[in-house]
Amino acid sequence: MPSTGYLDAAATAPLRQEARAAMLAVLDAGPANPSSVHSPGHRAKAVVDEARAEVAAALGATPAEVVFTSGGTEANNLAVTGLALANPRGRHLVTTPIEHPSVLESCRFLERVFGFELTVVPVDADGRVDPGTVVSAIRDDTTLVSIGLANGEIGTVQPIPEIAAAARARGALVHTDAVQAAASLPVSFGSGRADAGEAWPGDHVDAMTIASHKFGGPQGAGALLVRRHLRLEPILHGGGQERGARSGTENVAAIAGFAAAVRAASAEIGTRALALLRNRDVLVERVLSEVPGTRLTGHPSERLPGHASFVVEGVSGESLLVALDAAGFAVSSGSACAAGKDEPSPTLLAMGFTSELAQTAIRFTLPEPLADAALDRIVGVLRGETRGAGGASSGSA
Ligand SMILES: Cc1ncc(COP(=O)(O)O)c(C=O)c1O
Repeated sequence: MPSTGYLDAAATAPLRQEARAAMLAVLDAGPANPSSVHSPGHRAKAVVDEARAEVAAALGATPAEVVFTSGGTEANNLAVTGLALANPRGRHLVTTPIEHPSVLESCRFLERVFGFELTVVPVDADGRVDPGTVVSAIRDDTTLVSIGLANGEIGTVQPIPEIAAAARARGALVHTDAVQAAASLPVSFGSGRADAGEAWPGDHVDAMTIASHKFGGPQGAGALLVRRHLRLEPILHGGGQERGARSGTENVAAIAGFAAAVRAASAEIGTRALALLRNRDVLVERVLSEVPGTRLTGHPSERLPGHASFVVEGVSGESLLVALDAAGFAVSSGSACAAGKDEPSPTLLAMGFTSELAQTAIRFTLPEPLADAALDRIVGVLRGETRGAGGASSGSA
């Protein structure tokens, strides 16, 4: 399949050349454990230190705020479990029904095993969280609020700075899962971003998750950015790497590839976002006007730049996916982690879609803008699949 047919960047982005080169350089340099005290060990430690400095610089953090992990899932587990257990203000958590399972299941783990209480605040029909609802859910014993910066399934971006400022004013810690947002929007953990002159969500949040493979780095690497003054209960116990926050020999090659991808993504993020956004708007406009029974899911404007997701009345998402695959386009019928599960998406159900309509979901996440010919072919395939399905009503519950 030509790379232009790969339209599933939210599941995993194409590997960047810079990341590949950085990984190969580490692998070719020979065996080295960053904890070893000989020269190869020093060399590996220097690679990890440099990668930490690069990730920090690109994301407005300090190197001491970066904890490398095995990916977004582990970073979310560490954030939720580690912050909640180490900060004994109380045993109450606030989150939303549309979080990645690594956040939701970590909250449920704390409920089940440690007796925490969980408030799941609702989202509206566009998948947006109302900051006022979050604030009213916060109690005197709320330890942590964990809400994602952007949702990978529907693309909706949340008003995290408002939510975080209000939650912190009430004494709760705030974690945001920025795995999807950081790869395509100028995200910063600091009070300013050198290249863009802005900071979003900035220093409002206490901890932020990122994952290498959404930037075009390797899978199996990620980081939790966390304020230095905060205590974090480790979830992996052992040799005390990552200043005690995450034991285990570092995956040096993956960390080097991760940092190279973040640096490369950061250098082009503004121009790329603009190009993707324009192209996405054309795709959305054409699908909605030319394919009967389609409806955009997620917020129409507050959404990730290359993200276009729809429900298509009367046609299963799975059959759309198969038809597009046969035409050379790799897309998703839901979130990657929900793929293979024959259940309607909890995110769409939480937004008020019926179970029937939720099963017609299809998602395009563009790694690069689509050519006109590809747009024509996509619209043609969708039209072919909807022929005879015959629905054009909105159908949401
Ligand atoms: C929003 C979000 N959080 C977390 C993850 C998990 O990251 P990883 O695949 O690195 O474990 C994903 C993966 O799709 C995601 O989209």
